[in-house]
Amino acid sequence: MANPLAHIHIRTYDTTCPRTDPLPSLQEGSLTIRPVLQSSDSSFGAEIFGVDWKKPVPDELVKQLISLQDRYAVLIFRETGLDNARHIAFSQQLGEKLEINPFFYGRENDRLGEPLLFDVGNIELDGSLVKRDSRRWHHSLGNALWHTDSSYHKQRSKYSLLLSHGNPVHGGSWTHFADTRRAYSDLPPEKKSQLEDLIVEHDLWHSRKLASPIIYGSPLPHELAAKPPAFHKLVQIAPDGRKTLYLAAHAKRIVGWEVEESQKLIWELIEHCTKPEYVFSMEWLRGGDMVWWDNRQSMHRANPYTDSMTARDVRRSTVVDDGVDAFGVVV
Ligand SMILES: [Fe+2]
Repeated sequence: MANPLAHIHIRTYDTTCPRTDPLPSLQEGSLTIRPVLQSSDSSFGAEIFGVDWKKPVPDELVKQLISLQDRYAVLIFRETGLDNARHIAFSQQLGEKLEINPFFYGRENDRLGEPLLFDVGNIELDGSLVKRDSRRWHHSLGNALWHTDSSYHKQRSKYSLLLSHGNPVHGGSWTHFADTRRAYSDLPPEKKSQLEDLIVEHDLWHSRKLASPIIYGSPLPHELAAKPPAFHKLVQIAPDGRKTLYLAAHAKRIVGWEVEESQKLIWELIEHCTKPEYVFSMEWLRGGDMVWWDNRQSMHRANPYTDSMTARDVRRSTVVDDGVDAFGVVV
């Protein structure tokens, strides 16, 4: 079986964003689009220029951006200058509601003081960096495995919007993305028919245990109660109408299969989806950079925390899925 932990190390993939060999830009109305990965039948990832983030984004432009999002799955905006309030306001234009951060324990204990944002950086309340072997350190290791956000929620998420505050150290901060639509499309026909009707159990504690077996081998009772598993079809229709694989390190078991046999197939598929031709590494260049991805048609991972990491202040809003597959399937 493929080793999930093989992914937990600091690296960049063959294609980076910005690319060292940029593809030609496209112009669409006031927007300039710089694609990241392009094949004959698929586009994945694009830097978008031309949005005026100083004022609220007009509805017409939001519509245009959603249509670009459906096509590219990952949109990158540089130096937006957005603050918490405008980050949230733009996210609220993209769906019915935002996820509430379950780790928000009240304003006095939360560095961001904002329940609609997830603090996914590495800075503690007192300004120091997260300590090695703290529970937060171990929890974050799971984010270094390939995953989609919130696939284990009863109502899953559709979009995540990650915004950088403060200037990252050059070359020190990356997020990696994988195109699950193109990866599905390249599977042989017999594999596609094997996968077609499979249902997958997604469990947050499964990915935490994979990444950090000592700490999360036995999650605390309140942790388990707060996050029961969810069930989703493995093969789904992406917003652009193509089929895609809905996969994540949270994927624990295929319904009706043993865990070991399930894990073998799940990690074989994750390995397939993360081949170099389907993957790029986005570099965080400056404060205000923002990446908006669709969890229903991509996977992503962070680099793990290390002793030599530099400060990284990134905050995420998460838009709840309001589509027909949001609640998955009942088993
Ligand atoms: Fe994530």
